[in-house]
Amino acid sequence: MTTLSVDELRAAIERELPGVRADLERLVRIPGIAFDGFDFTPLERSAEAVAELLRNEGLEVQISRVGEGHPAVIGRKAAPAGAPTVLLYAHHDVQPTGDLSQWESEPFEPTERDGRLYGRGVADDKAGVMAHVAALRAFGENLPVGVVLFIEGEEEFGSASLEALLSKHRDELASDVIVIADSGNWDIGQPSLTTSLRGIVNSFVTVEVLHSAVHSGMYGGAVPDALMVLSRLLTSLHDDKGDVAVEGLVAKEASPLDYPEDRFRAEAGLIEGVQLIGTGRLVDRIWTKPTISILAVDAPKTNEAPNAIVPKAKAKLSMRLAPGDDPKSAYEALKAHLARNVPWGAKISFEFEHDGNPCVIDATGKYFDAARAAFKQAWDGTDAVEIGVGGSIPFISTFQDMFPQASILVTGVEDPNAKAHGPNESLHLGEFARVCLAEALLLRNVAVAGETVA
Ligand code: BES
Ligand code: MN
Repeated sequence: MTTLSVDELRAAIERELPGVRADLERLVRIPGIAFDGFDFTPLERSAEAVAELLRNEGLEVQISRVGEGHPAVIGRKAAPAGAPTVLLYAHHDVQPTGDLSQWESEPFEPTERDGRLYGRGVADDKAGVMAHVAALRAFGENLPVGVVLFIEGEEEFGSASLEALLSKHRDELASDVIVIADSGNWDIGQPSLTTSLRGIVNSFVTVEVLHSAVHSGMYGGAVPDALMVLSRLLTSLHDDKGDVAVEGLVAKEASPLDYPEDRFRAEAGLIEGVQLIGTGRLVDRIWTKPTISILAVDAPKTNEAPNAIVPKAKAKLSMRLAPGDDPKSAYEALKAHLARNVPWGAKISFEFEHDGNPCVIDATGKYFDAARAAFKQAWDGTDAVEIGVGGSIPFISTFQDMFPQASILVTGVEDPNAKAHGPNESLHLGEFARVCLAEALLLRNVAVAGETVA
């Protein structure tokens, strides 16, 4: 096998970083959002920009979609004889910006402050895209493995057509190792392999008490209002300690990492005096126990509300599920709980939005060792830790089912201050450099580990 040495790769990444950074900024300027109601044309431009980056690295590139789905970019370069093939995943779509007044600089104008680059999608997940590109550039003509890049265009909106895309391109995507660069690291300076992710079930619950609003003075006192009903109902979801009270959900223990409470409070941005909820170690609470968040409530606005009894109210609920749980049975458990707890005979109805499987990854075998060695080299001798994340990447379980032989390495660029999905999302540029180097070293180590006599 002819490939570059560790030192040559270090030098190559250093050489490539300014260009990688410039291209990252170019991608961040394209506001590709796959949420309903947004203008989807930037997603086309963003796919085209990614396609061009891959073509420039000598990959054979196609932009693919299924049905109404958004464009994914697939780029391939065949393996040298006897070498393994690695699938590199990232997504080019981003979350909506949310409240613009909360941003300290324009979300789609990348801006550097104190060693971090700010902008929507800069970390989640355009830096993931660029880490893959950086590794390809570092090798140039000397890439020691085959690669398939799969850059999705609708991850943040639930990857609706991903399964169909994977089936459509099954043969082209077949690989020995899958690198999913859409997670993050435990801390700055601490490389990490993500080996457990929670599942998700998003749904709506509506309660109704009246055919239409009536005078609150005339009927209040005898007619319950829909917001009272909804409040009681939502309160029933947690016990007094803040643990989820829905029966029948799986709870597990997370890896033996200690998340100091003061660090957690600072990273979350918790207001002083606010208590944490739930019981057990912090990592259990956020990685391997179920949670239910109340994401939104539809009700009259406070500045528009008349003195009338609210006839109907609706809430959006997001459950996160422990590895090992099943979204379908969890949704049934939630509905049964709500139906049982709705007060005063109010009418209750449910609407499902979307779900996704949790997953755990058994990080043993030569390719996981190759990854750990690469991380250690890139972080100057620091061993990687295995972490869980509380967020969800539902299609990992699809990859597991479809490519059961492949080793799935869940990596990423996010650090505890990245604020993905929030205002002022950012990327730690020093860690990004290490992530790029780690990926190049990973491809090298995978080539060495997977070499068979041609
Ligand atoms: N990159 C995240 C997943 C993630 C979250 C990794 C936290 C590491 C830490 C991903 O883009 C994401 O946000 N996924 C959605 C899934 C949903 C749309 C099905 C999520 O977790 O809300
Ligand atoms: Mn992401």
